[in-house]
Amino acid sequence: MVRTRLVRVDPAVPDPAALEEAGAIIRAGGLVAFPTETVYGLGADALSDRAVRRIFEAKGRPGDNPLIVHVASIQSAMTVAHPDPRGRWRMLAERFWPGPLTLVLPRREALSARVTAGLDTVALRMPRHEVALALIRAAARPIAAPSANRSGRPSPSEAWHVLEDLDGRVELVLDAGPTGVGVESTVLDLSGDPPVVLRPGGVTPEELRETLATGVEMAGPDLAGGEPPRSPGLKYRHYAPEAAMVVIEGSPSEVARCIASRLAAARAGGRGLRLGLFVSQETTAALTRQGVLPDPAIAVAVAGARADLEAFARGLFRALRDLDRARPDLIVAEAVENRGLGLAINNRLRKAAGGRVERCAGQP
Ligand code: TXA
Ligand code: MG
Repeated sequence: MVRTRLVRVDPAVPDPAALEEAGAIIRAGGLVAFPTETVYGLGADALSDRAVRRIFEAKGRPGDNPLIVHVASIQSAMTVAHPDPRGRWRMLAERFWPGPLTLVLPRREALSARVTAGLDTVALRMPRHEVALALIRAAARPIAAPSANRSGRPSPSEAWHVLEDLDGRVELVLDAGPTGVGVESTVLDLSGDPPVVLRPGGVTPEELRETLATGVEMAGPDLAGGEPPRSPGLKYRHYAPEAAMVVIEGSPSEVARCIASRLAAARAGGRGLRLGLFVSQETTAALTRQGVLPDPAIAVAVAGARADLEAFARGLFRALRDLDRARPDLIVAEAVENRGLGLAINNRLRKAAGGRVERCAGQP
């Protein structure tokens, strides 16, 4: 156990003294949780085997799931990676860095072998957050950082989520308030041709295709079968609340109808059903019109308007944690349109639900 300190910092103009201290902790092999534009990260010196091992221990993360290395400049990226064979990385870095795009490139020796879990590639990104960039500069080295949650739990979009999971396991938490994007970076594998999106995230496939002027493949949702997954993280259960969870696809009125009929069926069977809902404003309104809401047995986290994908993404992980605290029998989440940021939202919801997705359509 270590004593975990939480220090508040201004997201736009972080206090240099606080950042200098945080950088010193990283240089000494310690752990610092810090905000990025996507989610909070759990940072350690990417060049130190011992420091990186502490990340895996603190998270309870399987050693075969590699970490993302964070840099503060395009130049320093090339101190830990080689360019991809087609030299696409530079175009992408210039357009999207700093920002929620992680590039998988051939690795260099300088890195801790633990960071890449023995792979010959490294995942790299430059975060778009002043605190993250200032921390990397203060540490004067690249920082390895997975999301700062216990392995398998929803990612942290606020500093207190980090404490919920990692209090006593990390020296310092830099609290700069809620993160902006809310879902993690897009992971793009540039080691082959065409590039493959291993994890949809804050940068959309449409944006990548436009910049590359080439095809971009999407990795299958679950790489079942004998082949080793290209992104080792894909094989683990992720983002999961304690409660059982299901994702419902359909229009807001269809989703509302399905929720209502689930409740009616449970009541007809003489059972109560405590629900947690992560749904759009439209679905909430429909449930209210039908007299389903308000109900003390139903906890609701309203994501935003159905078309407001940014709001869905920003609120997603917090909603899963908040709803879980109400101890429902079941969490029901509404899927969004499967394009743009919606790909990342649906991907996280599906994983949180352990793949349980139901289509709710065509009922009277
Ligand atoms: O937005 C983000 O990316 C956040 C913030 C903190 O930067 N970080 C994050 O890290 O989400 P993590 O560890 O939770 O997810 C990293 C993902 C995992 O799915 C991992 O398997 C994959 O990236 N990954 C890491 N290195 C890889 C590599 N060399 N090849 C393929 N996949 C890799
Ligand atoms: Mg993670």
